[in-house]
Amino acid sequence: MNPPDVLAELIALQAGDVPTHGGATMAYVYDSGHAGVDELAAAAQAAYQWTNALDPTVFPSVARIENDLVGAAAALLGGNAGTVGTVTSGGTESCLLAVLAARERWRARDRGGDRPRLLLPVTAHAAFRKAAHLFDLEVVDLPVDPVSCRVLPAAVSAELDDRAALVVVSAPSYPHGVLDPVGEVAALAAAAGVPCHVDACIGGWVLPFLDDVPEPFDLSVPGVTSLSVDLHKYGYAPKGVSVLLSADAELRHAHWFSTAGWPGYPVVNPTLAGTRPAGPMAAAWAVQRELGTDGYRQLARSARAATVALAEGISALPGLRVVGRPVSTLVAVAEEAPDGVDVLNLADEMTARGWLLQPQPPFDQPGGALAATLHLTVTGATAGRVEALLADLADAARAAAALPRPQADPELVSAAATIDPSALTVAEVEGLLELAGVGGGRLPERMAPVHALVAALPRPVAERLLAGVLGQVYRPSTVVGS
Ligand SMILES: Cc1ncc(COP(=O)(O)O)c(C=O)c1O
Repeated sequence: MNPPDVLAELIALQAGDVPTHGGATMAYVYDSGHAGVDELAAAAQAAYQWTNALDPTVFPSVARIENDLVGAAAALLGGNAGTVGTVTSGGTESCLLAVLAARERWRARDRGGDRPRLLLPVTAHAAFRKAAHLFDLEVVDLPVDPVSCRVLPAAVSAELDDRAALVVVSAPSYPHGVLDPVGEVAALAAAAGVPCHVDACIGGWVLPFLDDVPEPFDLSVPGVTSLSVDLHKYGYAPKGVSVLLSADAELRHAHWFSTAGWPGYPVVNPTLAGTRPAGPMAAAWAVQRELGTDGYRQLARSARAATVALAEGISALPGLRVVGRPVSTLVAVAEEAPDGVDVLNLADEMTARGWLLQPQPPFDQPGGALAATLHLTVTGATAGRVEALLADLADAARAAAALPRPQADPELVSAAATIDPSALTVAEVEGLLELAGVGGGRLPERMAPVHALVAALPRPVAERLLAGVLGQVYRPSTVVGS
């Protein structure tokens, strides 16, 4: 095939995707609204697409780019002369490495065979659960205040024992966009000799540019030992680039891996990958140069102003409320009890109007249950569309209020209660998905009943079925490259 035809075919594949630009997709994507930023990023990626960031001694350009990105993050986020960092592939990898470093530090002391524990507010990003799973830490779920959705410091201090390897706080949390009490938690952790990670993956390139942040949250806060910030979010770089800052070189070394124990080349990996793409880091570097501090400040402030306007507008809509105090550019919308608008139905109504708002299930926790919410990530591109968004929300809320509440099929739920998910075969999972109306990896247009079912199932069963859906989505094509 000739290249233009190949490219046309590839681009045509995107017809069914949600838009990546224009500000209506309010999760997954971050659009600055400036086409020039994207063009520069694409050119920078192209220039570095064959470079292997595996070895910065043969590609010194990689070392320079990484050092510039880490230096910029440290300068923005309270670093000092001892601060070091690592460029990673994204928020999840930054969080994984923060946990790995803390576990290694914990193990370095004689622990008599104990298993380390990860103290995690229930609102901390799921990436930390993945880290605990991969690196064999026990998760200690810390409740949050059910109104403010901030972690309760008393819950943290109750768990700070010898087995605590790391405490995590978010700046802000993904589900609700609220800021954990970083200073208080970090001080408690420090007093107990436990490291404290600030997950600023989503807020770290926004909060430093705002005037109304309620309290300090970065590496300058006593007790904070590491911090993650994603450049592929509000750094407006293309996917695949984040920074993990470590308060000192010892802690950074703890997540590195090196071996001379094979006949091949000596391996020293700062991250989980071996061969690493240099394209995303080059793009991040270029975008940072183009936008500069002033560019980022403008983008952060316009997204923040839009967020404040949006939150006010939503609070004025009957049947809906904003959860907690959003400090950055995220908003969580919940039903105004008792007879408000069901947010799962609202999500479907907004999808029909061209917006993607992300449903988040209700969550039970010791401090008091957290309501189901819709998550909205506001970026530079959404900033100009707040009025249209509020108008559609008002219209969608009226339509959603007239719909029956999504109910999980009670027979399915009671059958699921007797299932041992670890004993289910792939074929049995597929059978259950068929019964639930999501067989063959096809999701219905209205997702509210599916979300209601997921929320009603025992968590391990839901997790197995969700993996089953992905198993059906990912099936090898029968015709490849013919
Ligand atoms: C606070 C926070 N931490 C971690 C992550 C995970 O980042 P990624 O999806 O880049 O792996 C996210 C993603 O939204 C996030 O918001």
